[in-house]
Order: sequence, then structure tokens, then C-alpha cells
Amino acid sequence: MQRWLNLTIARHSRLLLKNKFPSLHQSAAMSSLLISQPKYAWLKELGLSEDNPGVYNGNWGGSGEVITSYCPANNEPIARVTQATMVEYEETVQKTKEAWKMWADIPAPKRGEIVRQIGDGLRKKIKALGSLVSLEMGKIYVEGVGEVQEYVDVCDYAVGLSRMIGGPVLPSERPGHALIEQWNPVGLVGVITAFNFPVAVYGWNNALALTCGNVCLWKGAPTTPLTSVAVTKIVADVLEQNNLPGAICSMTCGGADIGTAMAKDERVDLLSFTGSTNVGKMVGMMVQERFGRKLLELGGNNAIIRVAKAYNTLYGPLHTKQAVEQYLSAIEKAKQQGGTVVCGGKVMDRPGNYVEPTIITGLAHDSAIVHTETFVPILYVLKFKTEEEAFAWNNEVKQGLSSSIFTKDLGRIFRWLGPKGSDCGIVNVNIPTSGAEIGGAFGGEKHTGGGRESGSDSWKQYMRRSTCTINYSKDLPLAQGIKFE
Ligand SMILES: NC(=O)c1ccc[n+]([C@@H]2O[C@H](COP(=O)([O-])OP(=O)(O)OC[C@H]3O[C@@H](n4cnc5c(N)ncnc54)[C@H](O)[C@@H]3O)[C@@H](O)[C@H]2O)c1
Repeated sequence: MQRWLNLTIARHSRLLLKNKFPSLHQSAAMSSLLISQPKYAWLKELGLSEDNPGVYNGNWGGSGEVITSYCPANNEPIARVTQATMVEYEETVQKTKEAWKMWADIPAPKRGEIVRQIGDGLRKKIKALGSLVSLEMGKIYVEGVGEVQEYVDVCDYAVGLSRMIGGPVLPSERPGHALIEQWNPVGLVGVITAFNFPVAVYGWNNALALTCGNVCLWKGAPTTPLTSVAVTKIVADVLEQNNLPGAICSMTCGGADIGTAMAKDERVDLLSFTGSTNVGKMVGMMVQERFGRKLLELGGNNAIIRVAKAYNTLYGPLHTKQAVEQYLSAIEKAKQQGGTVVCGGKVMDRPGNYVEPTIITGLAHDSAIVHTETFVPILYVLKFKTEEEAFAWNNEVKQGLSSSIFTKDLGRIFRWLGPKGSDCGIVNVNIPTSGAEIGGAFGGEKHTGGGRESGSDSWKQYMRRSTCTINYSKDLPLAQGIKFE
């Protein structure tokens, strides 16, 4: 049987807000908003209206730039969101910090109860919220619902965690001494998210950060602001019904301005950033500059090593018109670098940002385009001769997010998982590279940033560890038996 190495390049398009969104003035002249049409009345179930405040800190507000959110399936405007100004950002950080003082004093299992209620709030709105993800981001409906389900699942996980987090009591070498590890919340967790997972990524961070005793400040992607607002409304309802400060889960909608402010802000005790490698590198350096903590979930470029040639092609439109241009440009570059389009390759003649899923063969494993995350549905198929070659091609790209092998060979499976196998954070066997269960730690190596979110011991990223030595004897012995004589 012929063997194939398929390097699947993830879909991506990054935009500047100003390029994409017309101002309120401009958008008023365009067709009416989808939210005003009876067909989209369900958006109102999520508390959305034509104009939505893009700031939440216990109160709803926002007086910055007004942006219009567009539906990628037809490029029609859905509704508008007013983003945060820098003054509103400042006020929100202060309120969020203040809210921490109360939240950190609440016992972890009681915090878990609040997270449980957030999960229940999401369950009640799962269909509407999943539909909004599909409408605003462009992924298919079942994936939109699946994203909300991930947030629900991670809430359940975090509830259990709220009775389990803790450190060990270690044997002390000194008599009458105890050596313990104490875990405390870091404080304010800033969460910056990407357009392609507008619910789940915040959910992974939010549920764990809250359970660990932190407060959150969220800035979602500027092209999915309605989803950020709708999620925050569900979370805010739970906090307010429990007479807790809403600023425990704050939100400031915005673009690079708010994101940069968060990266530079010493009051943001942990910055969790999900996005492209280029922006993540800048953000990481800004946080490092102030010796802050960061959790980076950056670009991927995933390989699947397989013997079969089946592809699943059920998917929605690209997120923006710019992504369509990026798709065409990537195909052109692939052709220039020796590739042949054997399937797809064209923009579909219909409204919205639909393109054909594309397969390209004939490229060298080290061609520039194969090593680039284009974030569009193009699959490069490369033939390999040996297992070593396939593993090497998997590992030679800068990104290290996800990887997969399809094989029944037991030895090959364990070599794939072992020290000379895949160097990615996610290493799968006989399942594709997409999707991950919340019980495991999610994240990638190398240019994907090294962060871990969601399950396993990822909670440790949201806490600081103190090593505590307690002397309950009448003496004062030194470690290593040192005596000053
Ligand atoms: N590793 C993962 O788990 C994961 C998950 C989802 C997406 N991604 C990656 O995200 C990318 C797609 O998302 P995108 O196009 O929204 O990414 P992006 O890097 O353009 O934007 C991500 C976020 O960063 C903000 N931002 C932009 N400039 C900033 C700055 N100077 N300072 C601070 N924040 C800034 C954006 O407003 C947005 O909220 C892809 O590269 C994809 O692989 C990675």
C-alpha cells in the first residue's frame, strides 16, 4: 500500500480592524442588520440587540469605536458593538482587581459552585450560542454547539477540581519541621482570544482561573465581538444572581490597543494569549519585559501521517474576505514552488466567503509554503519513503501544536509517542489532529508557545506555588546539617 504524509496547514487569516469594519456612519448606509430580521430573532434570546455595549465590569458600557460584526456566509452585517476606550479599560482593571479581594476569600468548593452555575447557564443557551458562533465565526453549526459544550465540560471539570487542588506535604530532613507546598491564585488573569474559537478558549481559561481563585478580564477577537458579549451576559447573570461583583469576570472589547495594554499591564498577573505566532511573539516579549506570567497558545501547522486517502470536507465559509485572498495567494505560491492542485483550488460562485477545499501534491517537504500556517483549507500531500523521514518532516516545521499517525503497527505507535517521535504538544494515533478532549492538557511546543490549558495539571498555570518550611521544634537546625561553630 502506498504511504502518504499529509501536512495539513491550518486555516488562518489575520486582519486589522480598520481594514475590515466600516464605521457606524458607513454601516448605517448598508443593508439592515440581520438581528432586525425575524429569521434571526433568536439572537435576542442571548440578550443581543442592534447596538451592544462592549464593556462589562459589573456595569455594561463602552464608548469607544463602534464596530459592525459580519456574517461570513453572506457578508451581511449582524449587529454592532461599541468597544472599550482606554479610560474604560483602566476603570475595568481597577474594578476587577477590587473584585479579587472578595473572590479570593471564598473557599474553593464554593467558587466551584459558581462555576457549576455558569456551566448550567451555558447549557440553557447552548443552541442559540452555538448558532451565534456559526453565524459570526463561520464554522458549521455542530462545531459551534461543540464549542459551547467544551465550556460546559470544562466547568464540570473545574467543579471537581475545586475540591482537589492542593500541594504535597514533603518529608523534611530536619526534626520537628514540616515541608509543604501551598498553591495560591495569581490574581487577575487576562484572556486574549482568537476568532476561530470565540467561546471554548475563554471557557478553558475562565473555568479554571475562577476555581483557582482568580478574576478574569477578557478581550475577544474584534471580528467575533457578539459572541464575547453573549457569553459574558450568561456569566454576568450567574454572578449577579449570587450577589457577587460582576467584575469577577470582566470584558473589554477591542483590538490591538486593548491587547497591548493588557500585555504591558503589571496588574495583569497572568496573560493567557491565543492567536497567531507573530502577534503572540510580540505579546510574549511585552509580558516578559515586566517579568509577568504568560500562557501562549499560538499558530499550528499540523501533520497527519496516514496510509489512507480519505478526507472530511464538511466545513463552513472562511471568516473574512481577506482570508479568501489569503487562500488564493497560498495556492499561487504553492504552484510557483512546484505544487499541483489535484482537487479544489477555486473560490465558490455564491454569496459569502466560500472556497473549495484544496489538495496540492508535488511540493518538496521543505518548500516555504509547507512551512507556513496559512489558516485556509489547503492540504499538502507529500510522499515519504521511510518512517524516519515522515517523523522528521513532521518535526521540521517551526510550529508544534498537533500531529497524528494512522497505523496498526504497535512498534511504530510507540516510536511516534517516544523521544524520537512527534515533538508536538498533541500527539494522536488513528484520529485526526483536530479536536481535543478537555480532560487532557491542551497546547503546543516551539513556535506554538508552550502553554497548556484545560485538563490534567494545567490548573497550576493559574496559581503560584509557595514552598513552606514550618519549624515546630524548640531548635533552629539549618538545612544540609550546617552548623555555625
Ligand atoms: N494554539 C491554539 O490553541 C490556537 C487556538 C486558536 C487559534 N490559534 C491561532 O490563532 C490564529 C488565528 O486567530 P487570529 O487571526 O484571531 O489571531 P491574531 O493573532 O490576529 O489575534 C489574536 C488576538 O490577539 C489580539 N491582538 C492583535 N494584535 C495584538 C497586540 N499587538 N497585542 C495584543 N493583542 C493583540 C487580537 O485582537 C485577537 O484578540 C492562528 O494562528 C491560529 O493557529 C491557536
